[in-house]
Amino acid sequence: MINRLHVNLAGIELASPLVLASGVMGLSASSLERVAELGAGAVTAKSCGLEERKGHPCPAILPFGFGLLNAVGLANPGVDDMIAELRTFRLQSDVPVIASIFGKTVDEFAEVAARIAEAQPAMVEVNVSCPNVAAEFGRSFASDPALVGEITRRVRGRVSDIPISLKLSLQCMSIAEVAKACADNGADVITAINSVGPGMIIDPNVRRPVLANRMGGLSGPAILPLAVRAVWEIAEAVSLPIIGTGGVETAEDVVQMVLAGATAVGVGTAVYTRGLEVFSNINSDLHVFMQERGITSLSDLKGAAHV
Ligand SMILES: Cc1cc2nc3c(=O)[nH]c(=O)nc-3n(C[C@H](O)[C@H](O)[C@H](O)COP(=O)(O)O)c2cc1C
Repeated sequence: MINRLHVNLAGIELASPLVLASGVMGLSASSLERVAELGAGAVTAKSCGLEERKGHPCPAILPFGFGLLNAVGLANPGVDDMIAELRTFRLQSDVPVIASIFGKTVDEFAEVAARIAEAQPAMVEVNVSCPNVAAEFGRSFASDPALVGEITRRVRGRVSDIPISLKLSLQCMSIAEVAKACADNGADVITAINSVGPGMIIDPNVRRPVLANRMGGLSGPAILPLAVRAVWEIAEAVSLPIIGTGGVETAEDVVQMVLAGATAVGVGTAVYTRGLEVFSNINSDLHVFMQERGITSLSDLKGAAHV
């Protein structure tokens, strides 16, 4: 039987285009394994930095009608523990695992990338949506194409044998320009987008913001049209494969992403709102969608909305 869902992402064979997005179920080998067993084509671990980092106080995740606000921050056990989790996962599963890293400085990005590569993940995803401590007001790296280009070049210099993806954010003047800087400096893949915002929800009775951190990143269906537009613009600007991420919950959402130009599709918030079965449900609905229309490969749909 042909596997209509199979995709090749920068040389990595995925049995399904669905990729577990970073930050959801990605802290341990065992939680990554559960997602892999339930039909994800690849799984991304939680972003890790050089050292352990505590997150923001609770409540840090707040569901609302159209997704989530989250202020989890970059809570993580540090690169040493993450290497151990990735190695354990690789011993137990054939599903490709993507490591995700961040840094507080350009040097730190390069160092964490070199360390995490020791675990031999299928790909290293570089999360640039974090504050640049060297910049005034700690502006995010993702907003500056030159800095993202510099991070790409430095990470590439330290990780030569594993594909690297740059995880971009809409918090910039032009995501197409940032993607170009990644392509010009050796990126293999673009992951887009990270959560949007930050946003705030105020409890009308208590008269205070609900999140302890007051504000948090917006994810889920509310951001799907923003993510589709971002993927569209990136696909017009560069020829790199894209992991289209943001608000995907259904097979139709996946098809939208692919038509905009994505090769694979990230799923994060839907794991909270629809349960872990979201992967197998989307896979079977997507198979039916393609079968009914005589589509044998997702590559036939890739970018097809661009005329
Ligand atoms: C609770 C939570 C934690 C997240 N943590 C990370 C993270 O550590 N690194 C990262 O690159 N993205 C992180 N993200 C962003 C997601 O990977 C994804 O890009 C974003 O949520 C949009 O996709 P979605 O709507 O499918 O969730 C996080 C998202 C959520 C909801």
